[in-house]
Amino acid sequence: MAPAKQILILSYSFSGQTSCLTRRLKAGLESQGHHVLKERLEPYEPLKFPTGSIFTCLKMMAITFFRHRIAIPPPPDTANQHFDLIILAGPTWSYNPSGPVLYLIDNYGKKIFSGKTVLPLISCRGYWRMHWFGLKKMLERCGSNVPNCLVFSHPNKEPWRTIGVFMKIAGKAPEHAAFLKNHYKKFGHSKEQQDEAERLGAIIGRALNEGKSLPELKLHTPIALP
Ligand SMILES: Cc1cc2nc3c(=O)[nH]c(=O)nc-3n(C[C@H](O)[C@H](O)[C@H](O)COP(=O)(O)O)c2cc1C
Repeated sequence: MAPAKQILILSYSFSGQTSCLTRRLKAGLESQGHHVLKERLEPYEPLKFPTGSIFTCLKMMAITFFRHRIAIPPPPDTANQHFDLIILAGPTWSYNPSGPVLYLIDNYGKKIFSGKTVLPLISCRGYWRMHWFGLKKMLERCGSNVPNCLVFSHPNKEPWRTIGVFMKIAGKAPEHAAFLKNHYKKFGHSKEQQDEAERLGAIIGRALNEGKSLPELKLHTPIALP
């Protein structure tokens, strides 16, 4: 049996979707015998979910479009030890990584990510490519190897998905809105996608044990990215 790898999951979650995926991903990695440390990124001033109104939701979307950084304290010293793999998880905000993740990379990126293999996990409603390309570039500038990524998009059809996410962030209940409830049953990731996160965790864990290369893993499955 190959020696257990040390894996760090660093994650930020605004509305709980990334958290439900990383919890299951961790279980999948641990099922293959690896040691997984999970650290949550928490802004100095926690953001309020839901934002409370259409106006505050629109304001957040506009600000995040310009890659607004949200200050977070330095990750604990345990995040600086040796890791065979780091998973950097968080939502897409206006086609970009979220503010806490941008701040993390700007301020602590070289120290945490230099010389490490980093696998981003993206939770989004469906528009993740710009986020992925930008994040990969930022991490590579810190000296990381970024071989692949995990992407989970909400499994609802458009335009209901966009309307539903917007309403949920603003604090409305899209599942109960008369015009939406037949098209939009649930905000965020499905139970199948959470199961898929655990399955993909096990696949990554097995690849680490067998010395297989991460770029070749098929992580963009029809369940994760419907
Ligand atoms: C301010 C804001 C902007 C967003 N912009 C996008 C976007 O550009 N593309 C997308 O696919 N999803 C976007 N979303 C949706 C989130 O990425 C999605 O709901 C994700 O699952 C949330 O993860 P979390 O609960 O871990 O924060 C946005 C959400 C917020 C709050």
